[in-house]
Amino acid sequence: MAKILVLPGDGIGQEIVPEAVKVLEKVAAKHGLDLQLQEGLIGGAAIDAVGKSLPDETLAMCRQSDAVLLGAVGGPKWDTLPAAQRPEVAALLALRKGLGLYANIRPCFLYPALVDASALKKEIVVGTDMVVIRELTGGLYFGEKFREAYTVTSLSGEEVEMGEKAVDTLVYTTPEIERILKLAFETARKRSGKVMSVDKANVLESSRLWRETAQRMAADNPDINLESMYVDNCAMQLVRDPKQFDVIVTENMFGDILTDQASMLSGSIGMLPSASVGGEVALYEPAHGSAPDIAGKGLANPLATILSVAMMLELTFNMTTAADSIRNAVERVLNAGYRTGDIMTPGAKQIGTTEMGALVREQL
Ligand code: NAI
Ligand code: MG
Repeated sequence: MAKILVLPGDGIGQEIVPEAVKVLEKVAAKHGLDLQLQEGLIGGAAIDAVGKSLPDETLAMCRQSDAVLLGAVGGPKWDTLPAAQRPEVAALLALRKGLGLYANIRPCFLYPALVDASALKKEIVVGTDMVVIRELTGGLYFGEKFREAYTVTSLSGEEVEMGEKAVDTLVYTTPEIERILKLAFETARKRSGKVMSVDKANVLESSRLWRETAQRMAADNPDINLESMYVDNCAMQLVRDPKQFDVIVTENMFGDILTDQASMLSGSIGMLPSASVGGEVALYEPAHGSAPDIAGKGLANPLATILSVAMMLELTFNMTTAADSIRNAVERVLNAGYRTGDIMTPGAKQIGTTEMGALVREQL
């Protein structure tokens, strides 16, 4: 019995998740996986329904599941809430932390049919195939943050308030760095053995510890070919020559930014799946957000979420053949020339969210 919790969330999450669930149902039936699906509330949708973006019940249901499929959370309606109540912080970050999901695995692969969908030149992007491993429960997003009055002492010795001071902190410990590097090494062993550790060790103390730890671990793992790169250079190298990368491992915010950038190598952020792992239960989610600009219009690309289901079958249920059948179905639909707007290429046929889901299922 595979117990899966489905959390559509907000915006296009409500549109793409049902398509991915139907793909999961079809593949499960074909491959003899006995599914038990449950649906839960998260994000702005949960605020509207029960006043809290991560209801205790949702967290409890996650803990009782074998895997969680999440859409996206957030949107303009809830942007004005204080940070601690906003869906992105109170639901998503709290869920990752609550479940101990310290690693986000984001494969970035260019389907050959989508070469023209990339913003970059063909000869640069053809053959892009990398995995970015983003640290997910530490770093800048989880360090102490606060605001206070910003005051200066005037010449007459008076304290004068000049506005506010806002503080974020970037903290890493050796065990946090070791466990994410270990996952990067394990991932690299199934690929080319090459790992690029991305940091800002020329400026940040936490990055110095990150780099020292990475290099020490590489010395103990001679089968791994580790290199380190500064994050600003990595941003440049990703668009200059993406094929030099195989496995990238990096800090939370660096990984957030670099994967949005890397998504353009695959044609669109609507193509990037992800798995958040390391805790009690794994969470599978597209790398994109709730896309309020296109939400409710049936335009969203469901493939990132459908490909996240493939990652779920592979990583949580060890069903590699079933996972590959989804990836192959996606490839056949793309080869047949069907595209959502975000991956539109000259001469292709533009379709919407539900048609894309149906075509993938037809190909299964
Ligand atoms: P976004 O990823 O939602 O959208 C960025 C751009 O990509 C938009 O133009 C959007 O239309 C497009 N896009 C994204 N996914 C797409 C898809 N499947 N098909 C076609 N086009 C797609 O990022 P943005 O605009 O910065 O954030 C929107 C909201 O989502 C915010 O409230 C943000 O905080 C939240 N967010 C939530 C995330 C999550 O739940 N994991 C991750 C990132 C943002
Ligand atoms: Mg992001």
